[in-house]
Amino acid sequence: MQSAEFVIFVLFFIIFLNTSSHKDLVSCLGWTTADELYSCSDDHQILKWNLVNNETNVVVKLSEDIYPLDMHWFPKTVGGKRQTQAEIFVLTSTDGKFHLVSKMGRIEKSVDAHKGAVLAGRWNYDGTALVTAGEDGLIKIWSKVGMLRSTLANQGSPVYSVAWGPDSDRILYTSGVQLTIKPLQPSAKVMQWKAHDGLVLKVDWNSVNSLILSGGEDCKYKVWDSFGRLLHSSSPHDYPVTSLSWAPDGEMFAVGSFNTLRLCDKTGWSYAVEKPHTGSLFSLAWSADSTQLAGACGNGHVIFAHVLEQCWEWKNFVITLTKRRSMQVTNVMNDAVDILDFRDPVIKASLAFAHLVVATSLQCYVYSSRNWNTPLIFDLKEGTVSLILQAEKHFLLVDGAGLYVFSYEGRLISSPKFLDMRADSLNAQVISLCDDTIAIRDNRDEKVILFFDVLTGKAVGDGNPLTHKLEVVEIALDQCGPATDRKIALIDKNRDLYLASVRHFGRETKICKIGTMVDNIAWNDAANILCGIQDNQLTVWCYPSVVFTDKELLPKTLHIRDSSEFNSAPRILNFSGTKVTLRQGDGSLVYSSVPPYIALLHEYCSSARWEDALCLCRLVKDQSLWACLASMAMANRELTTAEMAYGAIGELPRVEYISMIKEQPSKESALAHMLLFSGQVQEAESALLQAGLIYQAIQVNIDLFNWERALELAVKHKTHVDTVLAHREKFLQKFGKKETNKRFLHYSEGVDVNWENIRAKIEMELSKEREKAANASVRSNGASYR
Ligand SMILES: *[C@@H]1O[C@H](CO)[C@@H](O)[C@H](O)[C@H]1NC(C)=O
Ligand SMILES: *[C@@H]1O[C@H](CO)[C@@H](O)[C@H](O)[C@H]1NC(C)=O
Ligand SMILES: *[C@@H]1O[C@H](CO)[C@@H](O)[C@H](O)[C@H]1NC(C)=O
Repeated sequence: MQSAEFVIFVLFFIIFLNTSSHKDLVSCLGWTTADELYSCSDDHQILKWNLVNNETNVVVKLSEDIYPLDMHWFPKTVGGKRQTQAEIFVLTSTDGKFHLVSKMGRIEKSVDAHKGAVLAGRWNYDGTALVTAGEDGLIKIWSKVGMLRSTLANQGSPVYSVAWGPDSDRILYTSGVQLTIKPLQPSAKVMQWKAHDGLVLKVDWNSVNSLILSGGEDCKYKVWDSFGRLLHSSSPHDYPVTSLSWAPDGEMFAVGSFNTLRLCDKTGWSYAVEKPHTGSLFSLAWSADSTQLAGACGNGHVIFAHVLEQCWEWKNFVITLTKRRSMQVTNVMNDAVDILDFRDPVIKASLAFAHLVVATSLQCYVYSSRNWNTPLIFDLKEGTVSLILQAEKHFLLVDGAGLYVFSYEGRLISSPKFLDMRADSLNAQVISLCDDTIAIRDNRDEKVILFFDVLTGKAVGDGNPLTHKLEVVEIALDQCGPATDRKIALIDKNRDLYLASVRHFGRETKICKIGTMVDNIAWNDAANILCGIQDNQLTVWCYPSVVFTDKELLPKTLHIRDSSEFNSAPRILNFSGTKVTLRQGDGSLVYSSVPPYIALLHEYCSSARWEDALCLCRLVKDQSLWACLASMAMANRELTTAEMAYGAIGELPRVEYISMIKEQPSKESALAHMLLFSGQVQEAESALLQAGLIYQAIQVNIDLFNWERALELAVKHKTHVDTVLAHREKFLQKFGKKETNKRFLHYSEGVDVNWENIRAKIEMELSKEREKAANASVRSNGASYR
């Protein structure tokens, strides 16, 4: 464990001094583009702020009786397609009206909406409906053109704030000290809970992470999940929380109160606090790219801020965003410093797999860690990249309109799509990339995971998605090895962790539980090692695929770190090389490491260096390493190594089973018993039937007491009916039972059971199998299954 460290985010203020500003309290504001903002004030003016030339213009002077309270621009992204401009916004006012106002400042329509003030108005995500909340306690839903659709709720006391749910199918609103979530569908269940010790004044709901924010007169802000479970509660501050707002990408949020602006991580802890002389901050608005924030101030000012000092680390490189258009690269090995300059402000960046990918508002820059001087630069179609994911050979950009896979040479490789895809709601928990596959949780059904081929952008294999029995909350693809072995780890709503194979070629997906009470996970970038936070401790699954060959061995392959290492609920950020980076509940970064020999064992086994693998295990003398080797060898049908490894951890029954496999008369039988070893009974049976080894298939079922199936096969192939009957009889005798099964009674009538004949027949089957195998091995020039 290395020392803890805080990442500091800097809020940067631009005060417009030389131009006009508001002469009274500013109540609300909203961005049109990354460089332009509208603000409304009690001075009845609507101003437009341009951040490129630092100019302010009056858009319109409203009539003296309009005191604005809330404004919201009509959404730019509608149905996955992006409108070029934000053209209209809703403005609510104290006189009980809302107004639809054009970009030019013309009031297109005014609607009498509530008795008393209209305290809030919000468009839904696809722009098909508007919700308003009033001092009269009513919540009303309106059409796009301002026709009343319904009164959703009558709450009895003023509703100060409303927000739409991530799918625009529910409304969250304040009701006194409580929060209420009401679905639009009339019969659906309403949720209500006590949220604060004073009136709740503001709420917000993020569509990417589905988390809810609330702030109140009790001077606290809180983070909730969409089931109303409290995730974070701040300590009480000096003044009531008058504004709060999620950054659209769901990574951070801002909280405003009297002379105070706070920037927080999505988990609730505070990155930075500023104390500007602004009076109360009545409204906060983030730009669509989540890089800039504006605040509406009680003293007539509008303040702007952006986030700096973000930091990325990979191996010996540390990169810091020092200005909006500039980064500093430090090589900690030799203290060499490089400065990277960009034409436009940086929106998102990612550093992994020896490459830095930077998205600005208009371009994408790709640097190799070997050369910081000559980036590859290409234009972006949409701007506003919301997520960058990297794999070894490719990277993926997500923007409001779609997802795009690029090579590090800047070539567009594919752009996966599916029906009703909502790229704007994708975050790193529900989309995962590796060199061959992209996995996405379906936004239409959270139980479903879709897989796409990186190269073609088409659905993988037979096109069938993976449907889990519960909603999936996090997914992660492993990063190494061939595409045919690709695995996905997933955490479901019950916090159970599963491992599933991705490419299953018509067979049923293999999916096995590998952990419980798991909060989040990350795969290693250089070997298929998984780590996760399990019940507040760090667990390392050294070889998760062990569940597919020998489930019972799984616990022996885990490394569990003592929870005393962490002071409060940590989250894994990434797992690169041997280093795990975690963020604790208080915001501090901590590092943990996994022993390097685990990755080394993976490397040896994947390149079939079994002797080296055995040497390593003998040297390290770690039981879990032996357990991993046993299972890796078994998965690769490397029986001699598996036998030794199982021996080293004292698994004697398994050692015996393996030597039994080695003595099988043919490779088909050996394969079938290896499948039986890992519990794949059906696969074992069909392997034998396919090889024409009918007797052996029957015997396998006898050994497992699958009597009905054994008899069925014997009857179908007209052979060894007597063998089945004989074993059955012996079995019943042993337990002092009488035959009651109709089929067995039926067949035992006409068949003579003679053990001597049966033994002779079996001996013949086995020698036939041996002879056939010997013939085959002569033909294939002695190639052996081992
Ligand atoms: C606008 O203001 C900022 C901060 O005060 C300043 O850095 C920038 O140079 C100004 N831009 C112009 C065009 O004056
Ligand atoms: C891991 O996470 C830390 C903290 O967010 C970040 O600085 C670093 O760049 C990440 N490293 C990789 C390889 O993604
Ligand atoms: C094995 O080869 C011998 C000689 O070619 C042949 O007579 C015999 O039938 C073969 N046995 C089987 C089981 O294929």
